[in-house]
Amino acid sequence: MVEIGLSSTIEPQQLLDLMRFRHSSRSGYVENKPLSDEQIETILQAARVAPSAGNAQPWEFIVIRDRDTRHRIADLFKHQLRDKLELERTIRKSSRIGASIGWRFAPVLILVVGDPRTSESFPLRTLEDKAESHFISSLANATLQMMLMAQCMGLGCQYISDVASPYFSLMLKHLLDIPPQLRVYHLVPFGYVSVAAEPSSRRPLEAMVHYERYDRAKERTAEDIQRFLQEESIQSKNYQWGGSKTPTSQDDP
Ligand SMILES: Cc1cc2nc3c(=O)[nH]c(=O)nc-3n(C[C@H](O)[C@H](O)[C@H](O)COP(=O)(O)O)c2cc1C
Repeated sequence: MVEIGLSSTIEPQQLLDLMRFRHSSRSGYVENKPLSDEQIETILQAARVAPSAGNAQPWEFIVIRDRDTRHRIADLFKHQLRDKLELERTIRKSSRIGASIGWRFAPVLILVVGDPRTSESFPLRTLEDKAESHFISSLANATLQMMLMAQCMGLGCQYISDVASPYFSLMLKHLLDIPPQLRVYHLVPFGYVSVAAEPSSRRPLEAMVHYERYDRAKERTAEDIQRFLQEESIQSKNYQWGGSKTPTSQDDP
């Protein structure tokens, strides 16, 4: 039993189960079932207490509930996919990229933005060689904590990282009046979902853990990586329709 704070306790297995059953929900959001202010605040509190490098807390969160704005953002997403798909089709001869816009119907979007000026809290050497990775890792921590909280509350959510690309982030800054010095990181839709998230696979623990020193018997060859990419990574999946091959009525074509 792990003691958290003075009174609250949580079983390790409970926390592990929560993490295990969290999966990206890419379809089935129920638009007409809004989240309460309290639910949103609880999700944001989870982000607020995340660890950050140098306790820089680079994050700010934009909560978007307005239907027109949400759908405008989904339209922007769809628009910016053209380049992305063209690159995949032309160079890789593939269209297997995450293009699901099921989240169009999520009642709440939270945009995570970061202020790189907070990296000044790092020691000089860290600032020189790790400012970028520390900034991103810190934003990632806050994002994941929100997602775990959503799982705890029985809500679906997913990552939308395309928002950080130049076109999309500039358009979002314009649409949402975000100051230019901030950086757009991830967009996370939250909501009740009518379909279970598609479970994703994980490599077995024994394949990734080494005791005392690196176990060369577990070193992966280039072929092992290729097999992994083909069989287990998202390259092996077509989640155009939210993980399944069949579009649901709420998915956007
Ligand atoms: C940094 C990062 C960026 C991601 N970007 C996207 C994204 O843009 N769209 C998407 O559908 N999923 C995105 N994902 C979700 C991953 O594809 C997903 O977590 C992974 O396939 C494992 O599936 P699970 O979340 O269902 O466990 C992202 C995840 C991470 C950590």
